[in-house]
Parts: sequence; C-alpha cells; structure tokens
Amino acid sequence: MSEYKPVSASHTTLTELMIPSYSNFGGKIHGGIILGLMDKVAYVCAAKHSDGYCITASIDVVDFLAPVEVGELVSLMASVNYVGTTSMIIGIRVISENLKTQVKKHTNTSYFTMVAIGDDHKPKQVPGLILKSQDDIRRFSQGLNRKELKKAYKKEEAEIKEDYDVTACQKTLQHERCKIDLPATSSATTT
Ligand SMILES: CC(C)(COP(=O)(O)OP(=O)(O)OC[C@H]1O[C@@H](n2cnc3c(N)ncnc32)[C@H](O)[C@@H]1OP(=O)(O)O)[C@@H](O)C(=O)NCCC(=O)NCCS
Repeated sequence: MSEYKPVSASHTTLTELMIPSYSNFGGKIHGGIILGLMDKVAYVCAAKHSDGYCITASIDVVDFLAPVEVGELVSLMASVNYVGTTSMIIGIRVISENLKTQVKKHTNTSYFTMVAIGDDHKPKQVPGLILKSQDDIRRFSQGLNRKELKKAYKKEEAEIKEDYDVTACQKTLQHERCKIDLPATSSATTT
C-alpha cells in the first residue's frame, strides 16, 4: 500500500439513468434512491483510496436542493476530501441532467465518513493524501474542521443528556406546537 496517494487516484463518477421504478408517489425520484447511489459512490472512492473494504461510519446532512425527474441522468462525483488515521471524508456532488434540453442542476452535496476495515475486521490505517491544488487544500482543511465540529457536538450532546431535566424541558416546550399528555400515574422518564 502506498503511504500517500493523490486525490485523483480515487476520484470516482457514477452515472445512472432515472427509470420510472425509482419514482415516488409524486412522480419524482425517491430520495432513498439518491442516498443509495451516494453510499455506493462513496464506497468505491474510499475503497480505491484505501485498497480494500470500507464501511460507512457517518453521513452528514443531505439537503435535497432540487427534485430529480424520471428520465434524467444523475451523475455523482466523489473524491477523498480528508483522511484521518483510519477514516476518510468523501465529498459527493450530485448533478442531474435533462437529456432533451441538456440543462444540468445541482441536486445534492454531502460528506460521507468511511472507515477502512482490515482482514481482522478492525479499522486499518489508510494512505495519506497528496494535495495538488488550492481546492484540495481547502477541502482537506474543511474536512478537518468538520471532524472537529462533530467531536465537539457529540461531547455537548452527551453533556445535555447527562443534565437532562424534564421539568425545565417542559417549560421550553410551552410555545411549541406540541401537547404534553402524560398518563396521570406515570412520572416522566428520560431516555
Ligand atoms: C465505524 C466503526 C468501525 C468505528 O469503530 P470504532 O471501534 O469506533 O473505531 P475507532 O474509534 O477507532 O474509530 C475509527 C475511525 O472512525 C471514525 N469514526 C467513528 N465513528 C464515527 C462517526 N460516527 N462519525 C465520523 N467518524 C467516525 C473515528 O474518528 C476514527 O477516525 P480516525 O481513525 O481517522 O481518527 C464502528 O462504529 C462500526 O462498525 N459502525 C457500524 C458501521 C456500519 O454498520 N455501517 C453501515 C453499513 S456499511
């Protein structure tokens, strides 16, 4: 396995025609189909970089920016943005093209964290990344920020869970669109 690899060594594009069986009740392409393709392209990109089997550890927010129509050609471009020790952040950009008009629209962007797994079924070290452009440097640095923000968020979430106070929480919900309807005999429990 090489110690360092350039981003170009694992850049992957997956193109798929949106057929009628992929549509939802509203006639647009089901979000789950796009998510499935994103997972596939993230896997191929991560497996190319790490020369082996990978698993999806986490998926960042996926905003559906525009609907995808039946008959459009969807292209998913994936590249390794950041590598840690055993994890890789794969940036994915999804474009949908109307084949009649050639109009293209950007429908999704997301970041998948993939972890390389060795023969012992444990996370294994991945090659470092050779950054050859300003964009490579920006993406690597943003990936590092994303990883740190996630760590901080997880820590904060664990603290909130620890200090969870149902009575205080009920007060904050007073002006929300919910009704608290606990059974008379039960006391509130935390999860
Ligand atoms: C992902 C997984 C292997 C991590 O295992 P672990 O014992 O927590 O291993 P570690 O703590 O050493 O973490 C390994 C790497 O994953 C990263 N990681 C783990 N969980 C993560 C998460 N939720 N989000 C982002 N990164 C994560 C760690 O930061 C670490 O990165 P680094 O080595 O580059 O610093 C484990 O949680 C797992 O098997 N999850 C289930 C995955 C799965 O079933 N996916 C769906 C089907 S493919």
